Amino acid sequence: MGRVATLVGVAVALSLAAAMLPEVGAVRYMVGAGMGNGWATNVNYTIWAQDKHFYNGDWLFFVYDRNQLNVLEVNKTDYESCNADHPLVNWTRGAGRDVVPLNVTRPYYFISGKGFCYGGAKLAVKVENPPPPPVASPEKSGSPASFYSGRIVLPAVFAVGAMWDAFLRFC
Ligand SMILES: *[C@@H]1O[C@H](CO)[C@@H](O)[C@H](O)[C@H]1NC(C)=O
Ligand SMILES: *[C@@H]1O[C@H](CO)[C@@H](O)[C@H](O)[C@H]1NC(C)=O
Ligand SMILES: *[C@@H]1O[C@H](CO)[C@@H](O)[C@H](O)[C@H]1NC(C)=O
Ligand SMILES: *[C@@H]1O[C@H](CO)[C@@H](O)[C@H](O)[C@H]1NC(C)=O
Repeated sequence: MGRVATLVGVAVALSLAAAMLPEVGAVRYMVGAGMGNGWATNVNYTIWAQDKHFYNGDWLFFVYDRNQLNVLEVNKTDYESCNADHPLVNWTRGAGRDVVPLNVTRPYYFISGKGFCYGGAKLAVKVENPPPPPVASPEKSGSPASFYSGRIVLPAVFAVGAMWDAFLRFC
């Protein structure tokens, strides 16, 4: 195939990659990772969250003993007082592995009901808009820090795969 076809291939690959760029930065955080046993008591989730930036599009992954805790989204007042009587969202699905999309730029408050909030099972995160240039991402994927925070780089792999596919097809 000629030069024009190759250029078309490059253009297709680049637009595919561009279409996927917003996904590349999304992080799935395992709640409490690196501080013991996931979503539990006797973990200070304020400390867990304080060195992280949560961006719109990220995810929280709660892993816990399904016979004990649950995952309830509440408002600030109920987070502070550990009141589980009127959850905004009950994220509990029953397997002890619940995924919560952080898809609105606002503070989120989570507690466990059944008394475990009083033992520390409470988490507040502030979700921000992602930083503008995805190319100059400050986080180095593959570094120990991002590994422990649970960064998922699959979309990036897909993007590279799509580029490679387009090259093979057009070259
Ligand atoms: C968790 O850590 C924060 C920040 O150091 C502190 O203000 C808070 O009192 C701690 N919470 C508990 C329940 O110990
Ligand atoms: C949270 O919900 C409770 C009960 O519905 C309400 O009394 C309280 O004012 C709410 N707090 C906020 C900050 O919205
Ligand atoms: C939350 O949903 C789960 C699964 O549907 C249910 O078993 C549980 O009773 C609910 N908890 C609350 C507090 O609503
Ligand atoms: C955020 O995700 C929830 C749960 O999947 C969904 O119900 C809601 O519509 C989404 N909100 C936006 C603004 O995308």
